[in-house]
Amino acid sequence: MAKEKILVTSALPYANGPIHLGHLSGAYLPADIYVRFNRLKGNDILYICGSDEHGVPITITADKEGITPKEVIDRYHEINKAAFDKFGMSFDIYSRTSIETHHQTAQTFFKSYYDQGILVEKKSMQFYDEKAKMFLPDRYVEGTCPNCGYDEARSDECERCGSLYEPNELRNPKSKITGETPVLKETSHWYFPLGRFQERLEKYIEEMNKKYGWKENVLQYCRGWFKDGLKDRAYTRDLDWGVKVPLDNAEGKVLYVWFDAVLGYISATKELSDKLGKPELWREYWQDKETKYVAFIGKDNVVFHTIIFPAMLMGWNDGNEDQYILPQNVPANEFLNFEGKKFSKSRGWGIDVIDFLKLFPADPLRYTLAANLPENKDTDFYWKEFQTRNNSELADIFGNFVNRTFTFVHKHFEGTVPERKDLQKIDEEMLSGLKEYPKKIGELLSKYKIKEAVFEMMNLARSGNKYFNDVEPWITIKQDKERCGTTLNICLQTINVLAEVFEPVIPGSSEKLFKMLNSPKINWDDLGVIELASGHQLNKAEILFTKIEDSQIEEQINKLPKEEVEEKKEKFEMITFDDFMKVQLKVAEVIEAERIPKSDKLLKLQLKIGKEQRQIVAGIAKSYNPEELIGKKVTIVFNLKPAKLFGVESQGMILAAENSDGKLELMEVSDKVETGTRIK
Ligand code: MF3
Ligand code: ZN
Repeated sequence: MAKEKILVTSALPYANGPIHLGHLSGAYLPADIYVRFNRLKGNDILYICGSDEHGVPITITADKEGITPKEVIDRYHEINKAAFDKFGMSFDIYSRTSIETHHQTAQTFFKSYYDQGILVEKKSMQFYDEKAKMFLPDRYVEGTCPNCGYDEARSDECERCGSLYEPNELRNPKSKITGETPVLKETSHWYFPLGRFQERLEKYIEEMNKKYGWKENVLQYCRGWFKDGLKDRAYTRDLDWGVKVPLDNAEGKVLYVWFDAVLGYISATKELSDKLGKPELWREYWQDKETKYVAFIGKDNVVFHTIIFPAMLMGWNDGNEDQYILPQNVPANEFLNFEGKKFSKSRGWGIDVIDFLKLFPADPLRYTLAANLPENKDTDFYWKEFQTRNNSELADIFGNFVNRTFTFVHKHFEGTVPERKDLQKIDEEMLSGLKEYPKKIGELLSKYKIKEAVFEMMNLARSGNKYFNDVEPWITIKQDKERCGTTLNICLQTINVLAEVFEPVIPGSSEKLFKMLNSPKINWDDLGVIELASGHQLNKAEILFTKIEDSQIEEQINKLPKEEVEEKKEKFEMITFDDFMKVQLKVAEVIEAERIPKSDKLLKLQLKIGKEQRQIVAGIAKSYNPEELIGKKVTIVFNLKPAKLFGVESQGMILAAENSDGKLELMEVSDKVETGTRIK
């Protein structure tokens, strides 16, 4: 296959605090797996990342800790770089946006828009803290989201529902510096007219999706913004920390952090080029139409990578000779939660990467996170699951298979690969799996279905382990040494393939395996074809995975903040049979259904329950059209106290469960059961 040229970026994390496990699952681990896989395929790939060192997140941290922004970024840039390194991230460069090259790059882009007359200078009302005597941009203001009602929303963007709005639309604003209600005061800024690019952006996303299959969650976000219509967006701020606005009349103003941050990908690539002594190398990626650019991010970054950044690149391309490529795919992930709740620094909920890696090695963490990536919906990290994945999967399946095989070969075949003769059906099957698994896993990885790929990797280890059991070398060694040799040859070929297909996920263990096999990595496409030769000398076995004791896990769980755990425990409390019988579940049939005006979630249902008819309001409008509900037999809580939702009376609750795409599925009941029947 022809080599592909690929440029991969992961969102530049703010250098304002240590990264935690949630960050890894969102934008870093999936990208690293994708990159490592492509390197094994022999593709020409660059993997770019670095610290985002501007913007209000940095100055807020500086204020809080009573140090300068420079001290904040220097500290956390180093901490995060080291954490990523220990976790096995294989960036080609981990740059930072405070470097000179970056400031120049960002200013050049801004200047180009200005010179082309794209930017619009507008006076606007911004929050101003009269006590602190300063304008309050972005996150210095907190209030209630005008769209979803989230009460920790930022001045211009809601973290929960992802909507963007103007500061005056925020409800109940509060200054984060003084806690006062800020006033709106006039200031002037340069705006980028995103609306002028909307048509081209829609076409671009449609085309990319058609060709390369974008993720449904990402398309959903984009469609939402297009539907509302893209608005002008201020690309400057009143702040003294950041990239200075390169105009004469712009004292005290810097570029909007997201404007410079996305360009950080480009300046980081320039820095890498300089380091390699090929200053123009970056153009061979960013400015070559053959390059495939993939941007890995978490869901809170979607608009910046699918709309704002592409519009900026289009704007540049309109007025300049050198032409940038746009992202070919933006495989954004949802969020990882921790033990059933959002990570929260202030509540002490969660664990930082650097602290985790002081306790346990990187590979079991990489495997656990990879097996549970929030690709389509939020997922959780649980300490118990971490233990099980390590002990029952990595150690008991993969490790055990490797260990048994190596012990046997060293004991009975002097540590060399035995000859393979007279294949039986079971052998043929195992060998053909060694070609099929890498192919299947490779296809999944190319489509960013990393979680599924990881599942298949472990399946290969599982089938190797099963093969070992089925061919019983401990018996054949006594009766038919040749047969025994053949089966162990196949086990070793399997381990050789496992070492490579697992490399993107657990590179440290894979490296150990290659050393044990005394054999180098090969091209992914040759897996199952190029084999270990018989007679090849192996090295001594090493321990790949160490079991994690219950006490180690309990120690970590005990460290979690008490009140939070108590609250969580309640949720899992055991109940008695009598408790359960307090809830009356009944079968009901939907006879009428309609939308509730102004609510995109709620439906008003009329239900037949035996002889009775009732009205229930159900939050299922995003999953079901009213028409398709008529005639369905569903399950309801019959004795729930009535309540009013959106002013509409609801007499009970309908039961539903969320599927893996986030769609609600009603708990339907077979037609053989009459309505009104109690469920027990
Ligand atoms: N610093 C941002 C965050 O942590 C991400 C920036 S991504 C970039 O959410 F594209 F702007 F670099
Ligand atoms: Zn919101």
